[in-house]
Amino acid sequence: MKDKKEEFRQKAALLDEADPLKDFRAEFKTSSDLIYFDGNSLGMMPHKSEKAVRKLVSDEWGQRLIRGWNDSWWNMPQRVAARLASLLGASEDEIAVCDSTSVNLFKLVSASLARQKGRKKILSDNLNFPSDLYVIQGIVESLDDGHYLELAETKDGISIHDDELIKRIDENTALVVLTHVSFRSAFMYDMKKVTEWAHNKGALVIWDLSHAAGAVEINLDAAGADMAVGCTYKYLNGGPGSPAFLYVNRNVRNNIISPLWAWLGEKNPFEFSLDYRPGEGASRYMTGSPTIISMSTLEPSLDILLAAGMERLREKSLKLGRFLVEMYEEFLVPLEFRLGSPIDEDLRGSHISICHKEGFRICKALIDSESGRYEIIPDFRPPENIRIGLAPLYNTFFEVYELVNELERIISQGIFEQYDTTSESVT
Ligand SMILES: Cc1ncc(COP(=O)(O)O)c(C=O)c1O
Repeated sequence: MKDKKEEFRQKAALLDEADPLKDFRAEFKTSSDLIYFDGNSLGMMPHKSEKAVRKLVSDEWGQRLIRGWNDSWWNMPQRVAARLASLLGASEDEIAVCDSTSVNLFKLVSASLARQKGRKKILSDNLNFPSDLYVIQGIVESLDDGHYLELAETKDGISIHDDELIKRIDENTALVVLTHVSFRSAFMYDMKKVTEWAHNKGALVIWDLSHAAGAVEINLDAAGADMAVGCTYKYLNGGPGSPAFLYVNRNVRNNIISPLWAWLGEKNPFEFSLDYRPGEGASRYMTGSPTIISMSTLEPSLDILLAAGMERLREKSLKLGRFLVEMYEEFLVPLEFRLGSPIDEDLRGSHISICHKEGFRICKALIDSESGRYEIIPDFRPPENIRIGLAPLYNTFFEVYELVNELERIISQGIFEQYDTTSESVT
């Protein structure tokens, strides 16, 4: 066992040494006694983002006041949209940066249903993030027009089988709303394939990219995607409260109308026209004043991702995942851990769930720096999932090695028993 461990330690060192992205870690505020595996929930802070916020508050707001809008703020949403477009395989005018993921989903679901008259089914799945389902349930309730939400069901708690989804897409289906990479298991849909199935039956598709953007390669235009939403605080490292984005394919946008008409979505807000005229492209989905302070982190953080390149990021993410699964099989399976993510890496995003009946207390022990050499931060999703977010910009193979050692120690020495099952409100 000891020899095997040493073999993995050496392998981690070699992989880190050969990592073409290793220098990107220095772009982030890290600490030698912290191992952070929660970039799938809140990404680490880029130094350049911290600098950008400080400059914005003290130099721009503090000194330039209202002139800041013309200096650089007014076009900030477009500048961020252009970067997201490069990352997501879209054109700049197909992306708007605004509001939260939930609000953007509300706008796109409402707009789609208005266009799909006569069709009443909205299809999703029971792996979806609950807030997305709440948004749909709320719309169904307020329309009161016979719409209903149907959920494809998982058999294994990890993935949705193709047949289960395809059999439910029919001529009554207005809309398919799916999360591209599932928040709990990281199961990933084939965007192109599902979009084709939906289009064959005349349905539109909205993708939630919250756990996919910056984590996996996405080409929205090439996949023929209709619409998408997503947040920017996970793998895009925008920080707490950074605004969400939405995508509307240019082939769809003239046929669907936002239900929320507001001045930022107007063709020329400063003409103060009394009648709304939709703006160009996806900008018509913008609503109120852009959240400039929380958006200012995004230009630098997206530039880091673009410099690394999604192809290289995905390649490293898969290598980190492979290394974790190898160590899991060797050291954690005998301790009653189970994999809560697809083993097939083509069906997986960039986090891996490792399940254990004591998952919650294990997480607490990992996070408690008194218990081990490091504070190790993953997160926990009920019932038993310890989610390990593998963020290829800053996570190392050595960190994965240390995580598995720590998981092994916490179970084999009964360390988790010192922790109770009360939870904090977040993660
Ligand atoms: C998949 C998914 N969709 C939607 C949301 C909600 O995002 P927001 O708080 O921006 O509305 C989250 C939040 O974590 C999420 O993970």
